Amino acid sequence: MPNLKFVNAEESVDFEGHVDLKEMGDFITFGCRSGKCGICAVRVVSGGDNLSPRTPNEERLFELLEMDDPAVRLACQSRAHGDAVLFEIN
Ligand code: FES
Repeated sequence: MPNLKFVNAEESVDFEGHVDLKEMGDFITFGCRSGKCGICAVRVVSGGDNLSPRTPNEERLFELLEMDDPAVRLACQSRAHGDAVLFEIN
């Protein structure tokens, strides 16, 4: 069963199939939930290949913020389909 590990919260969650990271409000802080505020930014410590590709909303916000680190994702825009370890940035 795939597992998401939240480094800051020292917690992990098992899931089946896939899961929207925006459902992980117990472990990640969210604001707009629409890819506009950046509050939900996480660094993908491992398992980046198990996340959905960046959305246009993510590309636009990271360009505005001049952040080009491919390991940084917006949790509200990401879906996991396998193991991943996430570190909340904000
Ligand atoms: S909650 Fe605002 S960008 Fe994700």
